Amino acid sequence: MNESVFVKKTTSLLHTLDFVKKAYVFDTVNSTNATARDLAKTGAAEGSVVIARTQLQGRGRFERVWESPKGGLYLSLILRPNVPPDKSSLLSFIAALATVKTMRGYGVFATIKWPNDVRVHGKKIAGILLESEGQGQRIEYVVVGIGINLAVDPTDLSAAIQTKSTSLEHELKQPIDFHEFLKSFISAFEQSYRHFKKQRFNELVEEWKSYSDTLGKKIRVNTMTGDLEGTAYDVDSSGFLLLRTSKGEKKRILSGDCLYVDELDHA
Ligand code: BTN
Repeated sequence: MNESVFVKKTTSLLHTLDFVKKAYVFDTVNSTNATARDLAKTGAAEGSVVIARTQLQGRGRFERVWESPKGGLYLSLILRPNVPPDKSSLLSFIAALATVKTMRGYGVFATIKWPNDVRVHGKKIAGILLESEGQGQRIEYVVVGIGINLAVDPTDLSAAIQTKSTSLEHELKQPIDFHEFLKSFISAFEQSYRHFKKQRFNELVEEWKSYSDTLGKKIRVNTMTGDLEGTAYDVDSSGFLLLRTSKGEKKRILSGDCLYVDELDHA
């Protein structure tokens, strides 16, 4: 599909969805999150959506690069929920849930690794990056950025991540319709986001747990203040991971890079 057909088709699809208040569609952009942040700062409404088929400067968590070759779905949603800021990390749970549910709808058994990596057979298939601003107890905006390897050819990724990544097409061995996937994803996101706005946080976390494979596992988490190792035993109603160390100490972790120890052993 050429650029202008893609932009036209995507824009008109997005305009049929209630959740979407305004659509910004690009074939190529530096980063949908960067564009969405600029829009949010200048007052873009909740439900504004930025989408692209490739990114030149895709951003990942912890200042990493998110490789964004063709075949991906690169999407950022601008949200302005009226909930306590400490619940905002649950928005990444919602994005992960929507991704996993949509993938399972295609028969691909995706799971979530805390906090929000979506994986299939232990390989990453999607990533989520939240960027937000707020004042005191008010959230100004949250940009929820989602990068999904829909039809990415793993060999288009750098050697460093190639063997750790997969794509939906690669798993299914058949073509995926970008627009069908996008529609299902947004409707799954909208459903959970409605619960979130009604402050039904526990329900969301319970649902997240049912799609995650992190609990019960021995993990190592790289946090801002160092590495923590232990067993992941629960996630609380704000999305914090609860970990029990070998000494029996309990830790509550807001964010970090989570690694499964059994996968490290076999790496
Ligand atoms: C991760 O490190 O796992 C998060 C990756 C998030 C990538 C997405 S792609 C769409 C949006 N725009 C960006 O620049 N990043 C996010």
